[in-house]
Amino acid sequence: MAFIEARGLTKSYAKGENVVKPLDGLDLDVAEGRFVALMGPSGSGKTTLLNLIAGIDAPSGGSLKVGGRELAGMSRAELARWRSEHVGYIFQLYNLIPVLTAYENVELPLLLFPGSRADRHRKVALALDLVGLAERHDHFPRQLSGGQEQRVAIARAIVTDPSLLVADEPTGDLDKESAQSVLTLLSRLHRELGKTLVMVTHDPRAASWAEETVHLEKGRIVRAEPAGSAS
Ligand SMILES: Nc1ncnc2c1ncn2[C@@H]1O[C@H](COP(=O)(O)OP(=O)(O)O)[C@@H](O)[C@H]1O
Ligand SMILES: [Mg+2]
Repeated sequence: MAFIEARGLTKSYAKGENVVKPLDGLDLDVAEGRFVALMGPSGSGKTTLLNLIAGIDAPSGGSLKVGGRELAGMSRAELARWRSEHVGYIFQLYNLIPVLTAYENVELPLLLFPGSRADRHRKVALALDLVGLAERHDHFPRQLSGGQEQRVAIARAIVTDPSLLVADEPTGDLDKESAQSVLTLLSRLHRELGKTLVMVTHDPRAASWAEETVHLEKGRIVRAEPAGSAS
């Protein structure tokens, strides 16, 4: 069975008299350990899909299994619990907390779980080391470049050792060089640590790092293609 398996997945919102359907009967399979790029025009439902896969939002209909768990029908609290154990989320604008240091930002997700301070220290140090920012642990976000902020955000996403990483335009706000270093890092997490990675991007060059590109239009998958075949 696929690691992510969506069948007839829908998400709808009431908008006055009307219903908006960002996702409209979507089918998707992502194998375990895959690196998938998700592309599509603005408003096609990419963020909505990512939020469902990550358990940030609940489906309106259909089925969505991630790692063997059916997410459709889970309560908000169950979803939050599941997410904290299994998913790391990487945002376009990093979403670091400005009054916390790099170390404290990365430590944050660990505070949801029981564990000693020493245990947390070991995990935070490992994550910051992995993203190459061990010596910046006491810097605040404003003292870091955009690329460094995103790498701290990636450390925060992996500190709990989740099996799934989702990233919403993680290089959308970065210069070419920083984007390159973030993509190198994401691709390493996928290759060396076996993380399943779903990355939304507008940039065909960023997408070319993935093993597969899935195109979304009006809330449905319109085509999927292996890496290297992107036109
Ligand atoms: N909370 C919401 N309430 C109402 N409509 C929403 C909500 N979230 C998203 N939408 C609508 O769903 C569509 C898809 O949005 P989104 O998933 O953010 O697209 P993308 O990330 O591909 O740009 C848009 O038309 C958007 O306005
Ligand atoms: Mg979006």
